[in-house]
Amino acid sequence: MSNYKTVLVTGASAGFGKAICETLATNGFKVVALARRLEKLQSLANAFPGKIYPLALDVRDVEKIPALLDSLPEEFKTIDVLVNNAGLALGVDRAQNCSMANWKTMVETNITGLLAMTNAILPNMIKRNCGYIINLGSTAGNWPYSGGNVYGATKAFVEQFSRNLRCDTAGSAVKVTVIKPGLCQDTEFSYVRLNNDKEKVLSIYDKTESILPEDIANTVLWLLNTPAHLNINTMEMMPVCQTFGGLSVTRNLDLEKK
Ligand SMILES: NC(=O)c1ccc[n+]([C@@H]2O[C@H](COP(=O)([O-])OP(=O)(O)OC[C@H]3O[C@@H](n4cnc5c(N)ncnc54)[C@H](OP(=O)(O)O)[C@@H]3O)[C@@H](O)[C@H]2O)c1
Repeated sequence: MSNYKTVLVTGASAGFGKAICETLATNGFKVVALARRLEKLQSLANAFPGKIYPLALDVRDVEKIPALLDSLPEEFKTIDVLVNNAGLALGVDRAQNCSMANWKTMVETNITGLLAMTNAILPNMIKRNCGYIINLGSTAGNWPYSGGNVYGATKAFVEQFSRNLRCDTAGSAVKVTVIKPGLCQDTEFSYVRLNNDKEKVLSIYDKTESILPEDIANTVLWLLNTPAHLNINTMEMMPVCQTFGGLSVTRNLDLEKK
């Protein structure tokens, strides 16, 4: 039986976050489901009466977070587990062709939003000597690829921040894990990244069996049931059909100044 009762999941209206909420609610947890699209959260909550509480928030609105958490109903207020899952990638262009606006949105969502949620919730975990922070990183944080520029860099931040949190929570029972998935299908991630271009999205997953949202949800459930003395620091996962590409070499490279 897990040590934890109440879980707050960010990015709960789609993809991994929605699957995590469903799996945890099915397995007896109380879940606060947070995202921007309230109607999606509401239908998720309706499927699990009394077990899932919908909370509409843009995690970039950092100054709203403390009051919003304070407004939670009593039975959902004491957060034992924070799953920092809300995040996005925008575009696959090389850095020299990217818009600053997209970079800013990724930094504010994947980094600032995650920090603000952690900043609001971690102190009470330390005070109660009970808590678990699970952050969603990505293989993109470790393995660079063309077009990954700021997205990959935000996920590298998430991994290093998670490791640093392990240092700062030393001496307490609070756990921290970063999950770093590779290619995943059946989420909105690539639709958001590629501006809803269905053809491009489908070509990414063509003839693959990629990671599914339920794989991530079952991983989170497993983490929450690990013994109190055990902390899993990082979990990197890829589908069997994906692996490392190796380093690239450009031949006949033109080094003349123009
Ligand atoms: N899918 C992959 O291939 C993959 C691989 C590795 C890592 N990841 C990471 O895993 C996490 C979940 O990805 P996913 O595939 O499940 O993506 P998804 O299906 O697009 O879901 C993203 C979720 O984040 C929420 N969100 C986005 N911006 C937000 C904001 N400003 N405030 C609050 N919520 C926000 C979205 O809800 P609203 O739009 O309703 O706010 C949605 O619920 C992300 O951090 C992603 O970077 C994904």
